[in-house]
Amino acid sequence: MRFSITALISALAGSALGTPGVSPASVSQAANPGSSFYVDKVVNTPEIPPKPDVVLLVDVTGSMSGPIGNIKTNLATVISTVKASQPAAEFAIASFGDIADPNPFQVRQGLTGDEAPLQAAVNSLAAGGGGDLPEDWINALYRLSTGDIAFRDGSSRVVVVVGDAPSHDPSGGHALGEAIAALQAKNIRVIAVDVGSINALNQATAVTDATGGVIVGSAANTVSDAIVNGLKNLDVTVTPEVVSCDAGLTLAFAPAETKVPSGTAATFNETVQVAGDATQGATLHCSTRFLLNGAPGGDAFTQTVAVKVNDVTPPTVSCADGPNPAGSTNPDKNANFWTLTAQDNVDDKKDLAILVRDSVSGAQFGPYAPGTTIKLVQAPGATPNVKPGTGAVNWRITLKGCAVLVVKDKAGNEATASCCARP
Ligand SMILES: *[C@@H]1O[C@H](CO)[C@@H](O)[C@H](O)[C@H]1NC(C)=O
Repeated sequence: MRFSITALISALAGSALGTPGVSPASVSQAANPGSSFYVDKVVNTPEIPPKPDVVLLVDVTGSMSGPIGNIKTNLATVISTVKASQPAAEFAIASFGDIADPNPFQVRQGLTGDEAPLQAAVNSLAAGGGGDLPEDWINALYRLSTGDIAFRDGSSRVVVVVGDAPSHDPSGGHALGEAIAALQAKNIRVIAVDVGSINALNQATAVTDATGGVIVGSAANTVSDAIVNGLKNLDVTVTPEVVSCDAGLTLAFAPAETKVPSGTAATFNETVQVAGDATQGATLHCSTRFLLNGAPGGDAFTQTVAVKVNDVTPPTVSCADGPNPAGSTNPDKNANFWTLTAQDNVDDKKDLAILVRDSVSGAQFGPYAPGTTIKLVQAPGATPNVKPGTGAVNWRITLKGCAVLVVKDKAGNEATASCCARP
């Protein structure tokens, strides 16, 4: 007994399993507007579902003294094992017998995380009575689901029924189907620890199948192991829930949710979609949490996505009418005075550099900042050159042909414009 509990605990602790949580927890990537990319998302689930509310429902009829003794001896170990995986775990103790007997359904201790009252409740269990073979656990399940236990919001609810015989049906006035519907309505799963023939009428499988639970066979002296084992063998439904996304970024997960045995990995194919009109140059964020059985899994089960939206729009560049040396700007008089002008959707003007290329010889001058003023002299026979200008004119540029202005933004998008001296 001691040996197997120890083996179980080391199996729990020494996990070949991934650390519970989502991986990768953060994704940071650059992407073009209108594009999407995929992320393989792995969610390692905890062996025991989060925030468990575990009700131990024990058959206390005459044949049960062995299993009851085992629970008394090992309750503390069960509690500490579950809490090692899920510190927020709470437990309750209830019992049932034969309704006709002195052992009707009874909640011995409501949900609590404190070991002492739970141990006291278990110590109060004593086997006795139980005239005919069937007992009345269907009534007990119905009662636990309809108000006799105050389950916490967002808890993983489990009733562990420990027994060796099937139930009367109806039981305490409640049919099996009624009990199952009540369990389902409260999202309660049932683990049946069978120390005899609890499933003789297939009632236990009907309940465990319908509630996502499990039947665990057990000897009288391994009941506590079977309880922990059952808790480790529940399914967990993992649901990604997008908490927030900046405008221009959306996430989708395939599948939308998935059910896996707790302790194993759930995988998702995450699509990150950048809108066509997403702000170029901006970094957009989404945050997602993963729900386990509908409850947030905690910090380890959140992910962030950061997408730097690429700048895909070229700058604009042009020659605007510029000032003459005296500072006067009049297109008719100042025919060959220009102001080099450029602008980008993302980059600051000061980060743009304009090159001036001769359309005939290919000679190139610059770079010049936007706002630079030039006098353009177009002389087919001259050697292209640049000289300081006078007054309000920064440079005097002599070319054989027209001036081709070339500007690139930081992302490498290029724009050109042609300026020819006016005749
Ligand atoms: C994710 O989904 C996309 C779109 O259906 C698909 O092209 C891609 O191959 C999937 N990735 C994986 C790893 O399944």
